[in-house]
Amino acid sequence: MAKDVIIALDFPNKEKALDFLDNFKGESAFVKIGMELYYKEGPEIIKEIKRRGHKIFLDLKIHDIPNTCVGATKSLLDLDVDMFNYHAAGGAKMLSEASDVISNSNKEVISLAVTMLTSTDEEAMHQNLKIDKDLSLDEVVLSYAALTKECGLSGVVCSALEVPNIKEKLGKDFVTVTPGIRKTKNNSDDQKRVVTPKEARELGSDYIVVGRPITKAENPLKEYKEIKRDFLGE
Ligand code: C5P
Repeated sequence: MAKDVIIALDFPNKEKALDFLDNFKGESAFVKIGMELYYKEGPEIIKEIKRRGHKIFLDLKIHDIPNTCVGATKSLLDLDVDMFNYHAAGGAKMLSEASDVISNSNKEVISLAVTMLTSTDEEAMHQNLKIDKDLSLDEVVLSYAALTKECGLSGVVCSALEVPNIKEKLGKDFVTVTPGIRKTKNNSDDQKRVVTPKEARELGSDYIVVGRPITKAENPLKEYKEIKRDFLGE
């Protein structure tokens, strides 16, 4: 069920990110911080954005041996962000040990796994990743999502188009966070399969991630509010 719009803060540095967030003074937004900004600015940017009253999805896509992943999870929990993620390809031991650390912390955090990157198509999945040629991309996405659920994480990052199948097989409470959103179909930038905020709601997505349609808008706050209204169906 549609819960919130997450703004992808894809900026190269703190100055540009905070200048953009000046548009959202007095507004409590949910923002996604990815590797570009986090590797440049570190935990300080998280603290500053939290001080401004925003919620944070820290998109670092952890993928390592279980022991390293457990340590990284403890460090992430200390940052008190609202959402973070792993690569489902890290496997059951990595995901379940991370999940145990989260449960034992008693912190309210939404933990996600990335199934198959949208930059990997079916051909690359078979040729480069050597995944069984009999399996389609959709089957692999669903199987990675099922593994994520079995290991105790909250949900997955996926295409909105994959949500109905995932919800049907894994339940409506399994969280789906979906990028690839555009207000109209004729402006997709480099996104291959886009859906509108309204379609994402109808497909059952819980959170949509929206970057350039808001960050590059002439009036980002106005655009954000319109997208949020369309997604929440208000
Ligand atoms: O600007 P745009 O709305 O396309 O940004 C979408 C955001 O979601 C970017 O931060 C992008 O890295 C992220 N993302 C994505 N597709 C995925 C996973 C993450 O577009 N499968």
